[in-house]
Amino acid sequence: MRALIVSGGALPAAPVTVPDPEPGPGQALVEIHHASVNPSELRHIGHFPDGAVLGYDSAGVVLRAAEDGTGPAAGARVVAFAAGAWAERAAFPTDALAVVPDGVHLADAAALPMAGLAALRSLRATGPLLGRRVLVTGASGATGRLAVQLARRAGAHVIAQVRDPARAGDLGAETVTDLDGVEPVDAVIELLGGPYLVAAWRLLRPGGNLQSVGWAAGEPAVFVPNSTFVLGEARTISSFGDAAAPAADLAYLVELVARGELSAGVGGRWSWERPGEMAAAIRDGKVRGKAIIDMDPTRTDDPANNQL
Ligand SMILES: NC(=O)c1ccc[n+]([C@@H]2O[C@H](COP(=O)([O-])OP(=O)(O)OC[C@H]3O[C@@H](n4cnc5c(N)ncnc54)[C@H](OP(=O)(O)O)[C@@H]3O)[C@@H](O)[C@H]2O)c1
Repeated sequence: MRALIVSGGALPAAPVTVPDPEPGPGQALVEIHHASVNPSELRHIGHFPDGAVLGYDSAGVVLRAAEDGTGPAAGARVVAFAAGAWAERAAFPTDALAVVPDGVHLADAAALPMAGLAALRSLRATGPLLGRRVLVTGASGATGRLAVQLARRAGAHVIAQVRDPARAGDLGAETVTDLDGVEPVDAVIELLGGPYLVAAWRLLRPGGNLQSVGWAAGEPAVFVPNSTFVLGEARTISSFGDAAAPAADLAYLVELVARGELSAGVGGRWSWERPGEMAAAIRDGKVRGKAIIDMDPTRTDDPANNQL
């Protein structure tokens, strides 16, 4: 099969031929139609050994069900959150797969895993959201857009911080560029780090929780002395990295898309034959939302390909 693998510590110029995957116990063989790109995957390519198949987010069709009887049957359309996504085929653990409802494009499903799981699980970790004020920093990005939608759906008043409101478009939430002047909040989904983390911490009410999910601004955070000392009910900052057993939450996310209650946020699509063009578009800030890799742009069994 062909795959996009780490080559000389970098993104390869094109897919190369690698051995076919052999499913182990509890793994299904999946034909991948679309994958998506997370900023960290491009940033950290050099951390993976040469030859490693890139990518974590994908959607496709089960070619062979797991021999132990777990997971979707052969022929099922599935979304996956597991390593080895940027390939024609992969052997994925069945607890990393969810069936994609009819009517949801596989390209939309492929946009969801890492960003959607981070948005959903970090919001859930902050506690009940009904009637709460929730701040999402970096709300114009893939994870932020999903977090804004999910928090609103859960009954929160959402404050969406973005750099450029015109470029961000209508997020369906109160939108701010600067955190100064924002009224106190009960919870924060913090995607930028650095000064944004410090400013968001200052806005947190007693008892509130800040989920430190990302560090997209790439700057250090400087807390002035005593700024984490607060009398009364504790405010907390939590790290976030919960990627365990994603099947049930993936199923929930694609179900919301099927019901028209969540926009997956595809920001652009590229054939996987020229990954450098896609990486350059992401690096130059030209992609608003999720970048999708199409393994076979001529495939007609997925209606999403009709957009090409
Ligand atoms: N812990 C986890 O499991 C997990 C999961 C998913 C994501 N993450 C992390 O969360 C962060 C966001 O991920 P994403 O998928 O949403 O990425 P994304 O789609 O690339 O969005 C990046 C966001 O950061 C903003 N941004 C970038 N540089 C900035 C700067 N210097 N100052 C202010 N804002 C800046 C962008 O604003 P513009 O739109 O104006 O460019 C955009 O809102 C990343 O650090 C990622 O690694 C972590």
